[in-house]
Amino acid sequence: MRTQVGIIGAGPAGLMLARLLHLQGISSIIIENRSRDYIENRIRAGLIEHWAADLLVELGVGDRLKREGLVHWGINIGINGELHHLDFKALIDKRVTIYGQQEVVKDLVVQRLADGGPLLFEVDKVSVHDLTSQQPVIRFEHESKAQQIECDFIAGCDGFHGICRPSFPDGKSQVFDRDYPFGWLGILSESPPPDHELIYSYTERGFALYTMRSETVSRLYLQCDHDEDIANWSDDRIWDELHKRLGGARKLAEGKVLQKGITPMRSFVAEPMQYGRLFLAGDSAHIVPPTGAKGMNLAFADVVFMSRALEAFYTKNAGELLDGYSAKCLRRVWKAQRFSWWMTQIMHRFPDETAFDHRRQLADLDYLTGSAVAAKSLAEQYVGLPLD
Ligand code: APR
Ligand code: PHB
Repeated sequence: MRTQVGIIGAGPAGLMLARLLHLQGISSIIIENRSRDYIENRIRAGLIEHWAADLLVELGVGDRLKREGLVHWGINIGINGELHHLDFKALIDKRVTIYGQQEVVKDLVVQRLADGGPLLFEVDKVSVHDLTSQQPVIRFEHESKAQQIECDFIAGCDGFHGICRPSFPDGKSQVFDRDYPFGWLGILSESPPPDHELIYSYTERGFALYTMRSETVSRLYLQCDHDEDIANWSDDRIWDELHKRLGGARKLAEGKVLQKGITPMRSFVAEPMQYGRLFLAGDSAHIVPPTGAKGMNLAFADVVFMSRALEAFYTKNAGELLDGYSAKCLRRVWKAQRFSWWMTQIMHRFPDETAFDHRRQLADLDYLTGSAVAAKSLAEQYVGLPLD
């Protein structure tokens, strides 16, 4: 097989890149090691920044998002049971859209197939070769047959556990990371959310987040130990803790638990995001803790930059944007890293925190909810910094 851009991974990054390239007349092949059913049903966060929702609509993949997405013009911050509303409309006149990541993936898969593919599922034994040549190669197995794609560029959109980042030669990649001493236990529940907007709730018992997928389905998270075993959390125990962490600020309706799981919390960046003709995008290059809901949005920003660089290469034979790809992405990535770390550290209880840390944290929350300037800074970052 031969194409211009070989895309490894059909998550939000790979699928969005394929759509952007298609609209620019650049050919691509996507290979994905999971099944279509698996990628379309993997439950992840579901918050889309202002510019990213507009982009999905502009790219022709936003019809269902416009119909079913929940547009939010603010969030609530709970501090030991007292709710404070941050009004994004008044602060910065921007919004976010709540729409599950797997719904974005479904819409992008439908579009990819309508664009004529190719999109190969359940590939195996993927490897990348000749990265510093003009003609890198992807080898893999599909339906038990060995295959190869010769391309001009490889887009490594294969997530945190993919093979692209580890294919950088020794010494050509530097990692910056931080683990947090807690995780998030998340449930999807058939019950109405306790408020029409999200509630980020700091309590002495730990953090909780009340979000949603629709008017009738809630997504609820609890801070838990980083090595927590989900088997220790019966539905009754989860509801009991959620009620306590909402602190009576709103009434929380219980419902059938449709899914539950634990999300690890990690900050991670690999630099640079390119080696030869292999370019990383999304989770393959960086991970943020979910507190700021930046994961999918960062993946979208990366592939916008990558598609612009590829367009400049193919239409003007200009390589500067490709050469500057990593630096361009990392400026945005590090600001989102800082914001996600900051949101995480003000909202959670840390097992090793000192009395000083605790007082400082409460002061941080008090400042955020008492100062229009502080609230504006959060709002600007939460809805997504401008792309350029
Ligand atoms: N070959 C082919 N595909 C692979 C391989 C491989 N060797 N390894 C992993 N993949 C696939 C995964 O199965 C997955 O479908 O690559 C895809 C990567 O998708 P995501 O993990 O969704 O990553 P990305 O597209 O960067 O999206 C970032 O995902 O983790 C969330 O919070 C994060 O919302 C953010 C988003
Ligand atoms: C979600 O809806 O799953 C969600 C929203 C906001 C976050 C994290 C997750 O910060």
